[in-house]
Amino acid sequence: MKPFYILLCLFHLVIIPVESETEAEALLKWKESIVHANSISSWSLTNSSNPCKWSGVTCSTTGYVVRIELHNTSINGTFENFDFFSLPNLTKLDLSNNLLHGTIPSTISMLTNLKFLNLGCNKLHGIIPPEIGSLSKLLDLRLNNNNFTGPIPFQLSWLQKR
Ligand SMILES: *[C@@H]1O[C@H](CO)[C@@H](O)[C@H](O)[C@H]1NC(C)=O
Ligand SMILES: *[C@@H]1O[C@H](CO)[C@@H](O)[C@H](O)[C@H]1NC(C)=O
Ligand SMILES: *[C@@H]1O[C@H](CO)[C@@H](O)[C@H](O)[C@H]1NC(C)=O
Ligand SMILES: *[C@@H]1O[C@H](CO)[C@@H](O)[C@H](O)[C@H]1NC(C)=O
Ligand SMILES: *[C@@H]1O[C@H](CO)[C@@H](O)[C@H](O)[C@H]1NC(C)=O
Repeated sequence: MKPFYILLCLFHLVIIPVESETEAEALLKWKESIVHANSISSWSLTNSSNPCKWSGVTCSTTGYVVRIELHNTSINGTFENFDFFSLPNLTKLDLSNNLLHGTIPSTISMLTNLKFLNLGCNKLHGIIPPEIGSLSKLLDLRLNNNNFTGPIPFQLSWLQKR
């Protein structure tokens, strides 16, 4: 009986912060794939298990990650390990002026609350994903100074005007 009771207690403890843990885990998974992650050294569970306290991360009053702002922070990496599914409340993603390379995954369309997307001044290549056009809340999109190929997807014309 006793071990079972302890297990129940643990389960209860784990259940409560499940949302922020998922977001923290998603951010840490991405961090692990970054070369020169000095600027996000505060992204660590030993610092705080609450990602809201990490540098460049802002949360809503309800504790969801709503902004990631890492402009000009020498971040060198890709979106391969960026879990767009785990950050549903993100309204602002500013990773401009860094060393991001690789492509923008079409799953960026999972960020359905996104209003501001700035990936300008990086080394991204490939196509501009047409799925960006389905980000119905997007107000400000900046993709300048990268190395994209192909046409500007017509789907971007679906984006609302300010
Ligand atoms: C923990 O995070 C805070 C907020 O970003 C930062 O000021 C502090 O330096 C961090 N501490 C360590 C040990 O990284
Ligand atoms: C980027 O950061 C570096 C070092 O922190 C600084 O010297 C440089 O002026 C910054 N560049 C821009 C465009 O903000
Ligand atoms: C960025 O990381 C890649 C490896 O992923 C490396 O080839 C490249 O030299 C790095 N760029 C800089 C400026 O450190
Ligand atoms: C934040 O995300 C959670 C989980 O997906 C959702 O229940 C909640 O409504 C979202 N809040 C906003 C403001 O979108
Ligand atoms: C951009 O792409 C072209 C052709 O694929 C390549 O030759 C060039 O080196 C790339 N530039 C940068 C800055 O990655």
